[in-house]
Amino acid sequence: MQKKLVVLTGAGISAESGLKTFRDSDGLWEGYDVNEVATPRGWRKNPEQVLHFYNMRRRNVRDALPNTAHEELARLEEYFNTQIITQNIDDLHERAGSTQVLHLHGEIFKMRSELDDSLVYPIRDDIHLGDKGPDGGQLRPHIVWFEEPVPLLADAVRMVHSADIFVIIGTSLTVYPAAGLIDFALPQIPKFIIDKNIPHTRGIQNLYSIQKPATEGMQELKEQLLKHI
Ligand code: APR
Repeated sequence: MQKKLVVLTGAGISAESGLKTFRDSDGLWEGYDVNEVATPRGWRKNPEQVLHFYNMRRRNVRDALPNTAHEELARLEEYFNTQIITQNIDDLHERAGSTQVLHLHGEIFKMRSELDDSLVYPIRDDIHLGDKGPDGGQLRPHIVWFEEPVPLLADAVRMVHSADIFVIIGTSLTVYPAAGLIDFALPQIPKFIIDKNIPHTRGIQNLYSIQKPATEGMQELKEQLLKHI
């Protein structure tokens, strides 16, 4: 039986693929007001602006490629039952070959009716104002905005709680409930965190920090993990 390796990723793992993070100095929230483009209020006020913001994100993701951090994570499936919980809306984990990926904050290549959130459809190109679902509802990105519930949270909590090893890569751990997932990892299991700037955590036992960019940090993580097979 393979051990269960659970990995929580954030924007930092895709930074070296050319996708901007949110809170770094040139991050997305420097150029946009989060209230305008990532809340239900922003959507009600100016849906065209919100659609434009995510149309740009979709184009960026389409043009990006997985980096070696995504690829090394996918290769870990050889040794571990590897389950990824990502806050990222890109599909770079899947394109790198990971087969168990939970998207806590939604997916840029999906859209849904604003009236019925069970009507979800694939989308590769832009969404326009006036594009409607079969129920007549305007189509919106399938993204979890601030102030919205996180439908996959309970699944993520269960995954972290049952992990034999827990890894965090490239997240500032500032957005809840995702940032609180670390508290569900059992105290005795090994935990690793890779980040250019290690985020603050309190009272977490058995936590080993690798302060490096994701691609470089993954090499060190791999050496550490192979001791735990
Ligand atoms: N390698 C590793 N870590 C990096 C790299 C890199 N090359 N570049 C940046 N980082 C780190 C930063 O130091 C920071 O800790 O990635 C983290 C990015 O943090 P955020 O921009 O806050 O992104 P994230 O934590 O994923 O944001 C969480 O906030 O806006 C919402 O819904 C959005 O899912 C997102 C959530």
